[in-house]
Amino acid sequence: MPDYQIAPSILSADFARLGEEVDNVLAAGADIVHFDVMDNHYVPNLTIGPLVCEALRKHGIEAPIDVHLMVKPVDRIIPDFASAGASYITFHPEASEHIDRSLSLIRENGCRSGLVFNPATPLNYLEHVLDKVDMVLLMSVNPGFGGQSFIPATLAKLRAARQLIDSSGYDIRLEIDGGVKVDNIAEIAAAGADTFVSGSGIFGCARPEDPHGYDNILQQMRDQLALADSA
Ligand code: DX5
Ligand code: ZN
Repeated sequence: MPDYQIAPSILSADFARLGEEVDNVLAAGADIVHFDVMDNHYVPNLTIGPLVCEALRKHGIEAPIDVHLMVKPVDRIIPDFASAGASYITFHPEASEHIDRSLSLIRENGCRSGLVFNPATPLNYLEHVLDKVDMVLLMSVNPGFGGQSFIPATLAKLRAARQLIDSSGYDIRLEIDGGVKVDNIAEIAAAGADTFVSGSGIFGCARPEDPHGYDNILQQMRDQLALADSA
């Protein structure tokens, strides 16, 4: 079975209790903390910055933090996220004037680098930088908001990205972000994803009064992934 990793997006967590929410979802078996950074410029929403990333580290979070930059420009903020404790930093090619430079900057700052592809963005941007990328993130919704529906055309794009990665021979994770739930995670895995962001599918699906809510959702996702692999 591939090394499947589940990355809850804290965009759908209860921000008033963020540290506890992240503790709980990690205790339930999540692998990575997906951290959505929006600037009300590149995308029409405004969220969180390096201070919150640093606060999670100070709170004691040791799991990888996967910083998804939906900001333009990107370079100015990369070192700040690196010092705040980011593990991965991914950005959208449309938001950087110099994609190769931004990717290198992320690695120079000690983080793993990634490129993010909007639903209509072609994978061509990858061709000349495969050696500088640790993660490819395909958006299966238009970026900016949680709770949207998975765009089915992303499945074919996942297959294409999987082929590109495998034939490159590089060790690159293939992450999917947007509308991922228990009921579609298996077909997404079968299309080639190995890292699954889910916001409303995890934080929005557990009832607050159920202390094992996250355990149940994560277990159901793991069961679906096991099924995908045996199919
Ligand atoms: C959207 C963000 C996503 C978002 C996913 O721009 O990048 O990470 O939180 O939320 P769901 O899983 O609810 O689609
Ligand atoms: Zn995201």
